[in-house]
Amino acid sequence: MSMMSSTKTDAIDWSKGAAYVNGAFMPISEARVPLTDWAYRRSDVVYDVVSVWDGQFFRLDDHIARFRRSIKRYRFTPQETDAELRQILHRIVAMSGLRSAYVAMDCLRGQAALGIRVPSKAKNYIACYAAPFTSLVPEEHLQRGLKLAISTIPRIPHECVDATAKNFHWGDMNMAMFEAEETGADFPLLLDFKGNLTEGPGFNVFIVRDGVVATPDYNMLEGISRQTVIELCAELGIDVQVRPISAAEVRDADEIFITSTAGGVIGASQIDGRIMNNDRPGPVSSELRETYWEKRKSGWHTEPVNYDAV
Ligand SMILES: Cc1ncc(COP(=O)(O)O)c(C=O)c1O
Repeated sequence: MSMMSSTKTDAIDWSKGAAYVNGAFMPISEARVPLTDWAYRRSDVVYDVVSVWDGQFFRLDDHIARFRRSIKRYRFTPQETDAELRQILHRIVAMSGLRSAYVAMDCLRGQAALGIRVPSKAKNYIACYAAPFTSLVPEEHLQRGLKLAISTIPRIPHECVDATAKNFHWGDMNMAMFEAEETGADFPLLLDFKGNLTEGPGFNVFIVRDGVVATPDYNMLEGISRQTVIELCAELGIDVQVRPISAAEVRDADEIFITSTAGGVIGASQIDGRIMNNDRPGPVSSELRETYWEKRKSGWHTEPVNYDAV
């Protein structure tokens, strides 16, 4: 791998973040994708996102491993090894100087020679960036709980686009976001064609009924935060089921919460206009949210950023 790099000088503003594109390091404002790249023209990208909180990556190995699975699933062949990718991620966070960061790693299809419309002929490459950490929702929504709505738009079937490999096919989720906004909800929940719950735009979904937690088993990304919650439930002695969940069960749930790298565990207070838990996140959701952040702060599954890696 060639590692051309910008030198970190005081003249360059790194505060908005740092990027790596196909061998070169740069401030995020300078990172570009060519208009003719299939990544842009065909949404032909797999990606992953890991968070840094208080100078610590969370589950970095798991994110790199999932990224590699997505790369293989969609037949990309980038040059970088996992060890090189790890160094790049440390280095862009170090260059940005950020203590809390949203760190994305993308694999782009690239461009085939002019006139050759065959993806196998394109030269794939890696692009990554570290930017200030952003949560899926503003702080006040964490307190009051999310308003969720079941979308009329089904999730793209797994048989067409494999959702377990994190990809840029967001047409269904984006349209569902417009629909949710029009009904006064913060986020949509998407069903599969059988009417079972899948996931939402950027998050997995859990329901709670009579103290038992359940999450879907099909047609969704196997989120690292979802895995984290399953582990936390085991520690806290809460039963978890991974199984099909009907729309009726979602509408009837005692509690609903979502999980994502961009915010951890976030409780809901309304589903399709029905108020749950006095219009606040429920007790199981809140316990899991608090435990998630306490454990992260105590160093669970974390790895310190090497800030000398600039
Ligand atoms: C479609 C989708 N589902 C679920 C998730 C949650 O995954 P994770 O917990 O690994 O961030 C994401 C994350 O961005 C996502 O894009």
